[in-house]
Amino acid sequence: IPVDPFDLVIFGGTGDLARRKILPALFRRFVAGQIEGDVRLIGAARGDMDRDGYRAMARAAITEFGGEESARKKDLTAFLDLLDFVTLDARGTEGWEPLAALMRPDRIRAFYFSVAPALFGDLAKRLHKHGMADERSRIVVEKPFGRDLDTARDLNRTLARHFSEGQIYRIDHYLGKETVQNLMAIRFGNVLFEPLWNSQYVDHIQITVAESVGVGGRGDYYDKSGAMRDMVQNHMMQLLCLIAMEPPAKFEPDAVRDEKLKVIRALDPVARRNVVRGQYEGDGTQPGYRNQVGNRDSTTESFVALKAHISNWRWAGTPFYLRTGKRLRDRASEIAVVFKDAPHSIFGADAGRHRNILTIRLQPNEGIELGVTIKEPGPGGMRLIDVPLDMTFAEALGPEEADFPDAYERLIMDVIRGNQTLFMRGDEVEAAWAWTDPIIADWEEEGATPLDYATGSSGPDDALMLMHRDGRRWREIRP
Ligand code: BG6
Repeated sequence: IPVDPFDLVIFGGTGDLARRKILPALFRRFVAGQIEGDVRLIGAARGDMDRDGYRAMARAAITEFGGEESARKKDLTAFLDLLDFVTLDARGTEGWEPLAALMRPDRIRAFYFSVAPALFGDLAKRLHKHGMADERSRIVVEKPFGRDLDTARDLNRTLARHFSEGQIYRIDHYLGKETVQNLMAIRFGNVLFEPLWNSQYVDHIQITVAESVGVGGRGDYYDKSGAMRDMVQNHMMQLLCLIAMEPPAKFEPDAVRDEKLKVIRALDPVARRNVVRGQYEGDGTQPGYRNQVGNRDSTTESFVALKAHISNWRWAGTPFYLRTGKRLRDRASEIAVVFKDAPHSIFGADAGRHRNILTIRLQPNEGIELGVTIKEPGPGGMRLIDVPLDMTFAEALGPEEADFPDAYERLIMDVIRGNQTLFMRGDEVEAAWAWTDPIIADWEEEGATPLDYATGSSGPDDALMLMHRDGRRWREIRP
Protein backbone atom coordinates (compact mmCIF):
# COMPACT_ATOMS: atom_id res chain seq x y z
CA ILE A 1 0.00 0.00 0.00
CA PRO A 2 1.51 3.35 -0.93
CA VAL A 3 2.10 5.79 1.90
CA ASP A 4 0.60 9.28 1.89
CA PRO A 5 2.42 11.96 -0.11
CA PHE A 6 5.35 13.36 1.81
CA ASP A 7 8.37 15.62 1.65
CA LEU A 8 11.52 14.21 3.20
CA VAL A 9 14.59 16.30 3.87
CA ILE A 10 17.83 14.47 4.55
CA PHE A 11 20.22 16.72 6.44
CA GLY A 12 23.64 15.27 5.82
CA GLY A 13 22.24 14.13 2.49
CA THR A 14 25.66 13.49 0.97
CA GLY A 15 27.02 11.60 3.97
CA ASP A 16 27.85 7.97 4.48
CA LEU A 17 24.53 6.94 6.01
CA ALA A 18 22.55 8.67 3.29
CA ARG A 19 24.54 6.94 0.58
CA ARG A 20 24.72 3.51 2.15
CA LYS A 21 21.35 3.20 3.79
CA ILE A 22 18.81 5.98 3.42
CA LEU A 23 18.81 6.53 -0.34
CA PRO A 24 19.00 2.80 -1.23
CA ALA A 25 16.19 2.09 1.26
CA LEU A 26 13.98 4.77 -0.26
CA PHE A 27 14.70 3.47 -3.72
CA ARG A 28 13.75 -0.08 -2.80
CA ARG A 29 10.46 1.11 -1.30
CA PHE A 30 9.88 3.03 -4.50
CA VAL A 31 10.42 -0.12 -6.57
CA ALA A 32 8.07 -1.97 -4.22
CA GLY A 33 5.37 0.59 -5.03
CA GLN A 34 5.18 2.05 -1.56
CA ILE A 35 6.43 5.45 -2.58
CA GLU A 36 4.43 6.92 -5.42
CA GLY A 37 4.58 10.00 -7.60
CA ASP A 38 3.92 12.94 -5.38
CA VAL A 39 6.90 12.77 -3.13
CA ARG A 40 9.89 15.02 -2.75
CA LEU A 41 13.20 13.82 -1.39
CA ILE A 42 15.54 16.67 -0.67
CA GLY A 43 19.17 16.25 0.19
CA ALA A 44 20.62 19.10 2.22
CA ALA A 45 24.27 19.48 3.02
CA ARG A 46 27.19 21.83 2.94
CA GLY A 47 29.18 22.09 -0.20
CA ASP A 48 28.59 23.06 -3.75
CA MET A 49 26.25 20.75 -5.50
CA ASP A 50 23.17 21.19 -7.61
CA ARG A 51 20.20 18.97 -8.22
CA ASP A 52 21.85 17.12 -11.10
CA GLY A 53 24.99 16.58 -9.12
CA TYR A 54 22.95 15.15 -6.27
CA ARG A 55 21.06 12.83 -8.58
CA ALA A 56 24.33 11.59 -10.02
CA MET A 57 25.68 10.98 -6.53
CA ALA A 58 22.49 9.15 -5.56
CA ARG A 59 22.62 7.03 -8.72
CA ALA A 60 26.15 5.94 -7.89
CA ALA A 61 25.24 5.23 -4.26
CA ILE A 62 22.17 3.19 -5.15
CA THR A 63 24.06 1.26 -7.78
CA GLU A 64 26.67 0.41 -5.20
CA PHE A 65 24.45 -0.27 -2.18
CA GLY A 66 20.94 -0.77 -3.54
CA GLY A 67 21.05 -4.50 -4.11
CA GLU A 68 19.51 -6.29 -7.07
CA GLU A 69 16.82 -3.69 -7.62
CA SER A 70 19.39 -1.13 -8.71
CA ALA A 71 19.71 -3.03 -12.01
CA ARG A 72 16.26 -1.68 -12.89
CA LYS A 73 17.51 1.37 -14.73
CA LYS A 74 14.08 2.74 -15.64
CA ASP A 75 12.92 2.62 -12.03
CA LEU A 76 16.14 4.22 -10.95
CA THR A 77 15.70 7.11 -13.35
CA ALA A 78 12.10 7.61 -12.25
CA PHE A 79 13.20 7.55 -8.62
CA LEU A 80 15.98 10.08 -9.17
CA ASP A 81 13.35 12.49 -10.54
CA LEU A 82 12.01 12.78 -6.98
CA LEU A 83 15.34 14.09 -5.72
CA ASP A 84 16.31 17.65 -5.14
CA PHE A 85 19.22 19.29 -3.39
CA VAL A 86 19.86 22.40 -1.32
CA THR A 87 23.24 23.67 -0.18
CA LEU A 88 22.67 24.48 3.43
CA ASP A 89 24.55 25.75 6.44
CA ALA A 90 23.11 24.19 9.58
CA ARG A 91 24.52 26.94 11.79
CA GLY A 92 24.08 29.87 9.43
CA THR A 93 21.49 31.31 7.11
CA GLU A 94 22.48 29.86 3.77
CA GLY A 95 19.96 27.53 2.18
CA TRP A 96 17.10 27.82 4.64
CA GLU A 97 14.87 30.02 2.51
CA PRO A 98 15.34 27.88 -0.62
CA LEU A 99 14.62 24.79 1.45
CA ALA A 100 11.43 26.29 2.85
CA ALA A 101 10.38 27.18 -0.69
CA LEU A 102 10.60 23.53 -1.72
CA MET A 103 8.27 22.35 1.05
CA ARG A 104 4.68 21.97 0.03
CA PRO A 105 1.64 22.52 2.21
CA ASP A 106 -0.59 19.56 3.05
CA ARG A 107 2.25 17.09 2.96
CA ILE A 108 3.68 15.00 5.69
CA ARG A 109 7.08 16.45 6.41
CA ALA A 110 9.93 14.39 7.69
CA PHE A 111 13.40 15.67 8.51
CA TYR A 112 16.17 13.15 8.79
CA PHE A 113 18.98 14.46 10.99
CA SER A 114 21.79 12.40 9.52
CA VAL A 115 24.39 14.73 11.03
CA ALA A 116 26.48 15.02 14.18
CA PRO A 117 24.28 15.32 17.29
CA ALA A 118 25.94 18.67 18.04
CA LEU A 119 23.89 20.08 15.15
CA PHE A 120 20.49 18.74 16.24
CA GLY A 121 19.61 21.91 18.13
CA ASP A 122 20.67 24.21 15.29
CA LEU A 123 18.60 22.30 12.79
CA ALA A 124 15.53 22.09 15.00
CA LYS A 125 15.64 25.80 15.75
CA ARG A 126 15.96 26.83 12.12
CA LEU A 127 13.18 24.51 11.00
CA HIS A 128 10.87 26.48 13.26
CA LYS A 129 12.27 29.84 12.42
CA HIS A 130 11.71 29.25 8.74
CA GLY A 131 8.20 27.97 9.24
CA MET A 132 8.89 24.41 8.14
CA ALA A 133 7.84 22.63 11.30
CA ASP A 134 4.19 22.08 12.03
CA GLU A 135 2.39 19.49 14.10
CA ARG A 136 2.52 16.99 11.25
CA SER A 137 6.29 17.28 10.91
CA ARG A 138 8.55 14.66 12.33
CA ILE A 139 12.26 14.36 12.83
CA VAL A 140 14.43 11.27 12.65
CA VAL A 141 17.63 11.03 14.67
CA GLU A 142 20.33 8.40 14.68
CA LYS A 143 22.64 7.04 17.28
CA PRO A 144 24.90 7.91 18.93
CA PHE A 145 22.21 9.43 21.07
CA GLY A 146 24.59 10.94 23.57
CA ARG A 147 27.63 9.25 25.05
CA ASP A 148 26.31 9.01 28.58
CA LEU A 149 23.25 9.94 30.61
CA ASP A 150 24.10 13.63 30.84
CA THR A 151 24.67 14.16 27.15
CA ALA A 152 21.58 12.12 26.27
CA ARG A 153 19.52 14.27 28.62
CA ASP A 154 20.89 17.40 27.02
CA LEU A 155 19.98 16.11 23.59
CA ASN A 156 16.49 15.17 24.70
CA ARG A 157 16.02 18.60 26.23
CA THR A 158 17.29 20.33 23.11
CA LEU A 159 14.91 18.42 20.88
CA ALA A 160 12.01 18.85 23.30
CA ARG A 161 12.35 22.59 23.01
CA HIS A 162 11.26 22.35 19.40
CA PHE A 163 9.38 19.08 18.97
CA SER A 164 7.03 16.95 21.03
CA GLU A 165 8.01 13.38 21.87
CA GLY A 166 5.43 12.13 19.36
CA GLN A 167 7.37 13.86 16.59
CA ILE A 168 10.79 12.47 17.47
CA TYR A 169 11.83 9.17 15.87
CA ARG A 170 15.01 7.81 17.44
CA ILE A 171 16.25 5.06 15.19
CA ASP A 172 17.72 1.85 16.46
CA HIS A 173 18.00 -0.12 13.26
CA TYR A 174 17.97 -3.43 15.15
CA LEU A 175 14.29 -2.84 15.84
CA GLY A 176 13.68 -2.76 12.11
CA LYS A 177 15.18 -6.21 11.55
CA GLU A 178 12.67 -8.79 10.46
CA THR A 179 13.51 -11.39 13.09
CA VAL A 180 13.42 -8.89 15.87
CA GLN A 181 9.79 -8.26 15.11
CA ASN A 182 9.27 -11.94 14.73
CA LEU A 183 10.47 -12.33 18.25
CA MET A 184 7.38 -10.45 19.35
CA ALA A 185 5.16 -12.48 17.02
CA ILE A 186 6.57 -15.72 18.43
CA ARG A 187 6.13 -14.64 22.02
CA PHE A 188 2.77 -13.02 21.83
CA GLY A 189 1.14 -14.76 18.89
CA ASN A 190 1.50 -18.28 20.27
CA VAL A 191 0.21 -19.87 23.40
CA LEU A 192 3.14 -22.29 23.57
CA PHE A 193 5.94 -20.12 24.78
CA GLU A 194 4.61 -17.47 27.09
CA PRO A 195 3.67 -19.81 29.99
CA LEU A 196 7.29 -21.02 30.08
CA TRP A 197 8.83 -17.60 29.60
CA ASN A 198 10.08 -17.01 33.14
CA SER A 199 12.72 -18.00 35.63
CA GLN A 200 10.84 -21.12 36.61
CA TYR A 201 11.48 -22.67 33.21
CA VAL A 202 14.24 -20.63 31.63
CA ASP A 203 17.74 -21.45 32.82
CA HIS A 204 19.37 -18.51 31.10
CA ILE A 205 19.28 -16.39 27.99
CA GLN A 206 22.24 -15.61 25.74
CA ILE A 207 22.35 -12.80 23.26
CA THR A 208 25.22 -12.73 20.80
CA VAL A 209 25.86 -10.10 18.18
CA ALA A 210 29.10 -11.17 16.55
CA GLU A 211 30.72 -9.41 13.64
CA SER A 212 33.63 -10.64 11.57
CA VAL A 213 34.56 -7.18 10.33
CA GLY A 214 36.78 -4.79 12.24
CA VAL A 215 36.17 -1.09 12.77
CA GLY A 216 37.08 -0.34 9.16
CA GLY A 217 37.19 3.33 8.33
CA ARG A 218 35.17 4.37 11.37
CA GLY A 219 38.12 4.34 13.75
CA ASP A 220 37.74 7.96 14.77
CA TYR A 221 34.20 7.54 15.94
CA TYR A 222 34.65 4.04 17.29
CA ASP A 223 37.72 4.68 19.37
CA LYS A 224 35.79 7.28 21.36
CA SER A 225 32.86 4.91 21.84
CA GLY A 226 33.78 1.26 22.13
CA ALA A 227 31.48 -1.74 22.01
CA MET A 228 29.61 -0.78 25.16
CA ARG A 229 28.40 2.52 23.76
CA ASP A 230 28.25 1.40 20.16
CA MET A 231 26.28 -1.83 20.60
CA VAL A 232 25.31 -2.69 24.17
CA GLN A 233 23.61 0.53 25.26
CA ASN A 234 21.33 0.45 22.22
CA HIS A 235 21.04 -2.65 20.01
CA MET A 236 21.72 -5.30 22.65
CA MET A 237 19.59 -3.47 25.17
CA GLN A 238 16.67 -3.39 22.77
CA LEU A 239 16.96 -7.12 22.15
CA LEU A 240 17.09 -7.76 25.86
CA CYS A 241 13.97 -5.66 26.37
CA LEU A 242 11.93 -7.45 23.75
CA ILE A 243 12.89 -10.83 25.17
CA ALA A 244 12.26 -9.88 28.76
CA MET A 245 9.34 -7.45 28.70
CA GLU A 246 5.85 -8.22 29.93
CA PRO A 247 3.20 -8.63 27.23
CA PRO A 248 2.03 -5.16 26.30
CA ALA A 249 -1.76 -4.80 26.19
CA LYS A 250 -1.57 -3.68 22.59
CA PHE A 251 1.01 -3.52 19.86
CA GLU A 252 1.07 0.23 20.08
CA PRO A 253 3.97 2.60 20.53
CA ASP A 254 3.61 3.60 24.14
CA ALA A 255 2.26 0.26 25.31
CA VAL A 256 5.37 -1.46 23.96
CA ARG A 257 7.79 1.23 25.07
CA ASP A 258 6.39 1.36 28.58
CA GLU A 259 7.11 -2.35 28.96
CA LYS A 260 10.63 -2.02 27.59
CA LEU A 261 11.36 0.82 29.96
CA LYS A 262 10.31 -1.30 32.94
CA VAL A 263 12.83 -3.94 31.94
CA ILE A 264 15.69 -1.47 31.73
CA ARG A 265 14.78 0.01 35.08
CA ALA A 266 14.71 -3.43 36.65
CA LEU A 267 18.27 -4.25 35.55
CA ASP A 268 20.69 -4.65 38.45
CA PRO A 269 24.01 -2.83 38.39
CA VAL A 270 26.67 -5.11 36.90
CA ALA A 271 29.52 -6.14 39.17
CA ARG A 272 33.05 -5.80 37.80
CA ARG A 273 33.59 -9.55 37.79
CA ASN A 274 30.60 -9.97 35.49
CA VAL A 275 31.98 -7.89 32.64
CA VAL A 276 34.75 -8.79 30.19
CA ARG A 277 36.24 -6.37 27.70
CA GLY A 278 38.42 -7.27 24.79
CA GLN A 279 40.33 -5.74 21.93
CA TYR A 280 41.26 -7.63 18.76
CA GLU A 281 44.80 -8.40 17.72
CA GLY A 282 46.12 -8.35 14.19
CA ASP A 283 46.66 -11.60 12.36
CA GLY A 284 49.36 -10.97 9.80
CA THR A 285 46.95 -10.06 7.04
CA GLN A 286 44.72 -7.69 8.99
CA PRO A 287 45.77 -4.96 11.40
CA GLY A 288 44.98 -5.17 15.07
CA TYR A 289 42.58 -2.75 16.69
CA ARG A 290 45.12 -0.21 17.88
CA ASN A 291 46.81 -0.04 14.51
CA GLN A 292 43.56 0.25 12.73
CA VAL A 293 42.32 3.20 14.74
CA GLY A 294 45.78 4.77 14.73
CA ASN A 295 45.97 5.00 18.50
CA ARG A 296 48.78 2.94 19.99
CA ASP A 297 47.60 3.41 23.54
CA SER A 298 43.93 2.91 22.95
CA THR A 299 42.09 1.16 25.77
CA THR A 300 38.78 1.12 23.93
CA GLU A 301 37.02 -2.23 23.79
CA SER A 302 35.96 -3.89 20.56
CA PHE A 303 34.35 -6.73 22.50
CA VAL A 304 32.14 -6.92 25.59
CA ALA A 305 30.61 -9.86 27.37
CA LEU A 306 28.55 -9.45 30.49
CA LYS A 307 26.10 -11.11 32.77
CA ALA A 308 22.98 -9.15 33.60
CA HIS A 309 20.18 -9.73 36.06
CA ILE A 310 16.68 -8.39 35.90
CA SER A 311 15.24 -7.97 39.35
CA ASN A 312 11.57 -8.55 38.82
CA TRP A 313 9.05 -11.27 39.52
CA ARG A 314 9.43 -12.92 36.12
CA TRP A 315 13.20 -13.05 35.84
CA ALA A 316 14.70 -13.18 39.33
CA GLY A 317 17.30 -15.95 39.16
CA THR A 318 17.63 -16.16 35.37
CA PRO A 319 20.87 -14.61 34.11
CA PHE A 320 21.08 -12.85 30.76
CA TYR A 321 24.47 -13.25 29.11
CA LEU A 322 25.29 -10.68 26.46
CA ARG A 323 28.28 -10.56 24.16
CA THR A 324 29.19 -8.55 21.12
CA GLY A 325 32.40 -7.87 19.30
CA LYS A 326 34.20 -7.21 16.09
CA ARG A 327 36.62 -9.47 14.20
CA LEU A 328 35.08 -12.56 15.71
CA ARG A 329 34.88 -15.92 14.01
CA ASP A 330 31.77 -15.20 11.97
CA ARG A 331 29.01 -12.71 11.47
CA ALA A 332 26.34 -14.36 13.51
CA SER A 333 23.71 -12.81 15.72
CA GLU A 334 21.22 -14.74 17.73
CA ILE A 335 19.23 -14.89 20.89
CA ALA A 336 19.04 -18.24 22.62
CA VAL A 337 16.49 -19.01 25.30
CA VAL A 338 17.88 -22.02 27.13
CA PHE A 339 15.23 -23.85 29.10
CA LYS A 340 15.85 -25.84 32.25
CA ASP A 341 16.28 -29.58 32.38
CA ALA A 342 13.18 -31.70 32.69
CA PRO A 343 12.58 -32.03 36.44
CA HIS A 344 13.17 -35.77 36.43
CA SER A 345 14.71 -38.05 33.85
CA ILE A 346 12.73 -41.26 33.53
CA PHE A 347 15.34 -42.57 31.10
CA GLY A 348 18.17 -42.70 33.59
CA ALA A 349 21.60 -41.16 33.64
CA ASP A 350 22.71 -42.80 30.38
CA ALA A 351 20.21 -40.83 28.41
CA GLY A 352 22.33 -37.73 29.04
CA ARG A 353 21.33 -34.19 29.72
CA HIS A 354 18.99 -32.65 27.20
CA ARG A 355 17.63 -29.21 26.99
CA ASN A 356 15.17 -27.30 24.94
CA ILE A 357 16.67 -24.23 23.36
CA LEU A 358 14.74 -21.67 21.39
CA THR A 359 17.07 -19.82 19.06
CA ILE A 360 16.11 -16.67 17.30
CA ARG A 361 18.61 -16.02 14.54
CA LEU A 362 18.88 -12.42 13.51
CA GLN A 363 21.49 -12.78 10.84
CA PRO A 364 22.52 -14.36 8.63
CA ASN A 365 19.87 -16.98 7.70
CA GLU A 366 17.06 -15.38 9.65
CA GLY A 367 14.94 -17.94 11.35
CA ILE A 368 13.73 -19.51 14.52
CA GLU A 369 14.76 -22.90 15.73
CA LEU A 370 13.43 -24.92 18.61
CA GLY A 371 15.67 -27.67 19.87
CA VAL A 372 13.69 -30.65 21.13
CA THR A 373 14.70 -34.01 22.49
CA ILE A 374 13.59 -37.18 20.73
CA LYS A 375 14.51 -40.82 20.67
CA GLU A 376 17.44 -41.73 18.51
CA PRO A 377 16.01 -43.85 15.72
CA GLY A 378 16.97 -47.51 15.67
CA PRO A 379 16.84 -50.53 17.87
CA GLY A 380 19.42 -49.32 20.40
CA GLY A 381 16.94 -48.76 23.22
CA MET A 382 15.90 -45.43 24.62
CA ARG A 383 18.76 -43.12 23.58
CA LEU A 384 17.89 -39.49 23.40
CA ILE A 385 19.14 -36.93 20.94
CA ASP A 386 18.47 -33.26 20.35
CA VAL A 387 17.10 -32.21 17.00
CA PRO A 388 16.04 -28.84 15.76
CA LEU A 389 12.53 -27.97 14.74
CA ASP A 390 13.81 -25.54 12.20
CA MET A 391 11.96 -22.65 10.74
CA THR A 392 14.42 -20.89 8.53
CA PHE A 393 12.16 -18.30 7.00
CA ALA A 394 13.55 -18.71 3.51
CA GLU A 395 12.65 -22.40 3.65
CA ALA A 396 9.32 -22.08 5.36
CA LEU A 397 8.02 -19.20 3.30
CA GLY A 398 9.81 -19.62 -0.01
CA PRO A 399 12.55 -17.29 -1.20
CA GLU A 400 10.08 -14.68 -2.53
CA GLU A 401 8.31 -14.14 0.77
CA ALA A 402 11.55 -14.28 2.66
CA ASP A 403 13.01 -11.36 0.76
CA PHE A 404 12.71 -9.05 3.72
CA PRO A 405 12.95 -5.32 3.51
CA ASP A 406 16.09 -3.96 5.06
CA ALA A 407 15.64 -2.46 8.52
CA TYR A 408 15.95 1.07 7.17
CA GLU A 409 13.23 0.52 4.58
CA ARG A 410 10.73 -0.45 7.20
CA LEU A 411 11.72 2.21 9.69
CA ILE A 412 11.64 5.10 7.22
CA MET A 413 8.20 4.02 6.05
CA ASP A 414 7.08 3.85 9.68
CA VAL A 415 8.18 7.46 10.08
CA ILE A 416 5.96 8.47 7.18
CA ARG A 417 3.08 6.38 8.51
CA GLY A 418 3.55 7.98 11.90
CA ASN A 419 4.13 4.74 13.78
CA GLN A 420 6.63 5.03 16.64
CA THR A 421 6.40 1.46 17.92
CA LEU A 422 9.86 0.53 16.64
CA PHE A 423 11.57 3.74 17.77
CA MET A 424 13.15 4.50 21.10
CA ARG A 425 11.49 6.93 23.43
CA GLY A 426 13.60 9.51 25.22
CA ASP A 427 13.15 7.97 28.65
CA GLU A 428 14.22 4.55 27.37
CA VAL A 429 17.46 5.94 26.01
CA GLU A 430 18.17 7.71 29.26
CA ALA A 431 17.43 4.63 31.34
CA ALA A 432 19.76 2.58 29.15
CA TRP A 433 22.58 5.07 29.73
CA ALA A 434 21.85 5.10 33.44
CA TRP A 435 22.59 1.37 33.41
CA THR A 436 25.71 1.44 31.20
CA ASP A 437 27.31 4.59 32.69
CA PRO A 438 28.50 2.97 35.94
CA ILE A 439 30.04 0.06 34.03
CA ILE A 440 32.03 2.45 31.86
CA ALA A 441 32.88 4.67 34.83
CA ASP A 442 34.23 1.65 36.64
CA TRP A 443 36.57 0.85 33.75
CA GLU A 444 37.79 4.39 33.66
CA GLU A 445 38.35 4.51 37.38
CA GLU A 446 40.18 1.21 37.36
CA GLY A 447 42.26 2.30 34.34
CA ALA A 448 41.39 -1.08 32.88
CA THR A 449 42.96 -2.23 29.64
CA PRO A 450 40.93 -4.63 27.56
CA LEU A 451 42.10 -8.21 27.09
CA ASP A 452 43.57 -9.14 23.73
CA TYR A 453 41.77 -11.63 21.58
CA ALA A 454 42.71 -13.19 18.28
CA THR A 455 41.04 -12.19 15.07
CA GLY A 456 38.65 -14.97 14.13
CA SER A 457 38.19 -16.20 17.70
CA SER A 458 35.17 -16.03 20.01
CA GLY A 459 36.68 -13.26 22.09
CA PRO A 460 38.93 -13.40 25.17
CA ASP A 461 38.99 -16.61 27.21
CA ASP A 462 37.63 -14.71 30.18
CA ALA A 463 34.38 -14.34 28.28
CA LEU A 464 34.14 -18.11 28.10
CA MET A 465 34.90 -18.28 31.81
CA LEU A 466 32.05 -15.91 32.53
CA MET A 467 29.73 -18.76 31.67
CA HIS A 468 31.90 -21.74 32.60
CA ARG A 469 32.09 -20.65 36.18
CA ASP A 470 28.28 -20.80 36.27
CA GLY A 471 28.36 -24.29 34.73
CA ARG A 472 27.11 -22.97 31.39
CA ARG A 473 28.47 -22.51 27.90
CA TRP A 474 28.19 -20.03 25.12
CA ARG A 475 26.77 -21.34 21.92
CA GLU A 476 29.16 -21.56 19.04
CA ILE A 477 29.47 -18.49 16.84
CA ARG A 478 28.44 -19.82 13.45
CA PRO A 479 26.39 -18.46 10.59
C1 BG6 B 1 25.93 -0.06 14.15
C2 BG6 B 1 27.27 0.04 14.82
O1 BG6 B 1 24.97 0.62 14.89
O2 BG6 B 1 25.57 -1.40 14.00
C3 BG6 B 1 28.31 -0.72 14.04
O3 BG6 B 1 27.66 1.39 14.96
C4 BG6 B 1 27.86 -2.13 13.78
O4 BG6 B 1 29.55 -0.72 14.72
C5 BG6 B 1 26.45 -2.15 13.20
O5 BG6 B 1 28.76 -2.73 12.88
C6 BG6 B 1 25.92 -3.58 13.09
O6 BG6 B 1 24.73 -3.56 12.37
P1 BG6 B 1 24.28 -4.82 11.52
O7 BG6 B 1 22.92 -4.46 11.02
O8 BG6 B 1 25.28 -5.01 10.44
O9 BG6 B 1 24.25 -5.97 12.47
